[in-house]
Amino acid sequence: MESAAIGIFDSGLGGLTVAREIARVLPSEPLLYLGDTARCPYGPRDLAEVRRFVLEIGSWLENRHVKLIVIACNTGTAAGLSLAQRTFSVPVLGVVEPGARAAVQATTNRRVGVIGTEGTVRSGAYSHAVRALDAGVTVFSVATPRFVDIVEEGLRRDSGRVEDLLAHTSEVFIRPSFYEIARDYLDPLKRTGVDTLVLGCTHFPLLSTAISQVMGPSVKIISSAEETAREVAETLRRRDALATGQRAASHSFATTGDPAEFELLGSRVFGAPLGPVEKVELDELTSLPSPEMLREAAAMTEERSCV
Ligand code: DGL
Repeated sequence: MESAAIGIFDSGLGGLTVAREIARVLPSEPLLYLGDTARCPYGPRDLAEVRRFVLEIGSWLENRHVKLIVIACNTGTAAGLSLAQRTFSVPVLGVVEPGARAAVQATTNRRVGVIGTEGTVRSGAYSHAVRALDAGVTVFSVATPRFVDIVEEGLRRDSGRVEDLLAHTSEVFIRPSFYEIARDYLDPLKRTGVDTLVLGCTHFPLLSTAISQVMGPSVKIISSAEETAREVAETLRRRDALATGQRAASHSFATTGDPAEFELLGSRVFGAPLGPVEKVELDELTSLPSPEMLREAAAMTEERSCV
């Protein structure tokens, strides 16, 4: 059990920001990461469709005998966390609750902003999660779907440090410029007086410097990666399932998209070479969920799917 991998997935490269933090906190734990790049973005899709993807990839990870699954995607978490927790035999963690917790702890004026994909914002997952932790905190959510494309495209076009993603590229490939797009999205949030902003999409930490410039220095920026990594560590520790060795673990990566491109771009986001990336065919994934799983997914209402 202890030598089994931690399974992690996202619609693409964004979840590697979470994987990177888990690898930093738990260097002896092997990770198995699947980026569903062929179907990225998840954000504009119907939540019922994303829920099916969660079942497919969760089944794929379970077949690989992972000891815990992290849905390193806010849209996937909003759509399918509770179903995945009921379906799979290993613990399943999402990224919404950890981000909500960090925001509730950080806010002093009890006004929290959330930016995410259309799916995440529509689901109300952050409002539910924050309210469950502190009913006195008000959440203001804005969908910022173009940020996902900007990250994916920016990584393809800019070979510099990922932390500086927009420093070189924003004027080159984004029309209007990133800052104009960001101001359109974020100015209404600024006017609500939030003192804390949750990056409710795992792609957004790559834009955090630029987002922070637009929001201003008084707004704390929260990324759920650190909180999620802490929760993974705590869950494994309590279950006596932490890897016992001291040596740095080796990780495995897979994608439904182009493995060579995923290796190249993903290594930059992960902060270390990914090594050869396995190609997973969509046919394989779609064949995995059992008819019972799909029936249960179809029967779920949006209300029940929220975290
Ligand atoms: N990284 C995913 C998230 O956290 C979303 C990107 C997408 O739209 O696929 O929501």
